[in-house]
Amino acid sequence: MNDATPAKSSTPAADMLWGFWYPVLRSVQLRGRKLERAALLEVPLLLGRDSAGKPFALRDVCPHRAFPLSFGQFDGTSVECAYHGWQFDAHTGQCRHIPSLTADSKLKCERISAGSFPCEERDGYIWAFMTNPEGRAPASTDAAIPPAPKLPTFDIDHKTGYKIAHLWADLPCSVDHGIIGLMDPAHGPFVHQAWWWHSRRSIREKAKQFEPIPNGFRMSPHAPSANSAPYKILKLITGEPATTTIDFVLPNQRFEQIRAGRYWLSSRTTVTPIRRDLCRLDFVAAWNILPWFPIVSFILHVLGPRFIRQDTKVIEKQALGLKYEDRMMLVDDADRQARWYFELKAAYLESKRTGEPMRHPVTGPVTLQWRS
Ligand code: FES
Ligand SMILES: [Fe+2]
Repeated sequence: MNDATPAKSSTPAADMLWGFWYPVLRSVQLRGRKLERAALLEVPLLLGRDSAGKPFALRDVCPHRAFPLSFGQFDGTSVECAYHGWQFDAHTGQCRHIPSLTADSKLKCERISAGSFPCEERDGYIWAFMTNPEGRAPASTDAAIPPAPKLPTFDIDHKTGYKIAHLWADLPCSVDHGIIGLMDPAHGPFVHQAWWWHSRRSIREKAKQFEPIPNGFRMSPHAPSANSAPYKILKLITGEPATTTIDFVLPNQRFEQIRAGRYWLSSRTTVTPIRRDLCRLDFVAAWNILPWFPIVSFILHVLGPRFIRQDTKVIEKQALGLKYEDRMMLVDDADRQARWYFELKAAYLESKRTGEPMRHPVTGPVTLQWRS
């Protein structure tokens, strides 16, 4: 395959994908009765926990006069707006009380709602299901809301248990640039140079097999890159050869699973749109490799942030250029995954528009070749 067609980057706000779960905050950021402000897909959000600890997500805009509800009070059940005291059910957003109404008022306050979003807690994150920008309840004709995403774990004998760790960073770019940066194999030797990883000199030809999966594509199970020290360490610890599988799934999730005998490490990276020019990278990993010996934890907590910092720096610099030019070139197989990402997005939006099943852009197994 040989092509170098310039692709117009999509206008992010218009192309943000509705109808998916997105991580809003890490669980530890939401404590007690405190209300937290956040944003997803340019929607201002108010997050909190009810008296049972269950999280909720409201649109942070009072339907009365647009006052941010996050300045208000919360009693464990209802949020009270600080401007005129209207009260809203924390989970449904339904208006419960309007203090200015007289006893004989005909106004039905329960017909008024603040926007609200389905909210769940999983793997140390508070997730919100972004139905639509207004936070309207999904119509009865809409597809059912799927369960919130869960990091795959393989607790084989249910004895050893596993460890879990979280890393994160803000990326000052559109979600599209964040995601294609995540799946881009060609920047490694230039951005992530390190003696234990790779360098310009270690560039060599790679051939990887890919296959379609629902809403995404998979780099089929393969032996991890021989020039990477973390995988060599893994082989040393487990005594078994490792295989790795990498999936990308709409709207924004990249899963990587490394298995070596009974040992596994499972990770997920999401790039979540906050605003059209800002997204957040969240990385979570779980593993059962020597849970009593912190080698994996060390690798993740020391090398992980360094890796993420290198990506963040590159994106900050790229933002300087993107102010003048938002076109991009997707070149040959090294950028094929980025191309598939845009095609998947377009196919998803088209299927939502027409109600027809989604036409997957990857029609069968395919081998991609590049140098990295
Ligand atoms: S603006 Fe919220 S009650 Fe008036
Ligand atoms: Fe990177």
